[in-house]
Amino acid sequence: MKTVGFLACETTLPLHFGGIGERRGDAFEHDLMIAALAPAFEAAGLDLKVIDWEAPIADFAGVDLVLLGTSWNYQDKADAFLARLDELAAIGIKVCNPPDLVRWNIQKTYLRDLAEQGAATIPTLWLTDVGLSDIEDAFKAFECDRLVVKRQVGAGALGQVLVHRDDLPDPAWRFGHPAMVQPFLPAIAEEGELSFIFIDGELSHALVKRPASGDYRIQSLYGGVETAFEPDAGQTAAASAILDALPFETPLYARIDMLRAQDNRLMVMEAEMIEPYLYPVQGPQLGERLARAVAKRLDV
Ligand SMILES: Nc1ncnc2c1ncn2[C@@H]1O[C@H](COP(=O)(O)OP(=O)(O)O)[C@@H](O)[C@H]1O
Ligand SMILES: [Mg+2]
Repeated sequence: MKTVGFLACETTLPLHFGGIGERRGDAFEHDLMIAALAPAFEAAGLDLKVIDWEAPIADFAGVDLVLLGTSWNYQDKADAFLARLDELAAIGIKVCNPPDLVRWNIQKTYLRDLAEQGAATIPTLWLTDVGLSDIEDAFKAFECDRLVVKRQVGAGALGQVLVHRDDLPDPAWRFGHPAMVQPFLPAIAEEGELSFIFIDGELSHALVKRPASGDYRIQSLYGGVETAFEPDAGQTAAASAILDALPFETPLYARIDMLRAQDNRLMVMEAEMIEPYLYPVQGPQLGERLARAVAKRLDV
């Protein structure tokens, strides 16, 4: 029987699976992924093993393929994470998605590459750090009244700042990280962020994520709520176009997050191909689709 490793981390894993006992607020998403995948993988003749990506390498003995499942703590140790993926690949484990793609996807500057390929992306200033004068320049460049400042290496809206034109940071303020600055798109609180889950390049399901009232971040950690929706042909085509712009082979899994801009076009917010939460509750067929795609890659 082939074994698939589902990479998690010490704060998504339950204690009895090697977690440190204090789980992230969104660790229930880990449980939902496992609940969706485990029966489908078993039915496909695959053994699913949940492993901390930082576990001793010996724990990976017998694993044929790894999925980068809920390894959500890599942000502050990206080099170690990438090194581990290379190490797994070097001992013959199929790493999904592959280290080269992950290395490209970990730095949000990949959005620039997608834009060069013609993808519709949110206008962005790329800065090594951000201070008050950069904020003032961005307000001029984008002619908007709110800005979002985010880390170039980031996830889960961690450390993100929303700046209002009438409430500027003080002159001593520094963001403190390589950053991207974007105009705030009000569609986030209206239509919401649209997510498209692709397995082996085929749309599995789509959902809309909306923030809690008074917030603009759609993540469950901040009270965001997601609902399945049936995308129309135009919406699906907009998301597929992002996959087509990738400078890599079709990935096993991808989550394309999109947000409508003022000109009514759907723009890519993120093309998540490292360890995206794949919203199994909104796509009950996810486990089966993923199991089938993995089995194909393992010649099962
Ligand atoms: N330009 C923007 N306009 C409005 N909301 C935004 C914008 N950029 C980010 N957000 C909000 O912040 C969240 C996190 O930003 P995102 O770029 O997806 O980074 P990550 O999910 O990797 O932390 C988004 O899901 C959305 O709710
Ligand atoms: Mg996001």
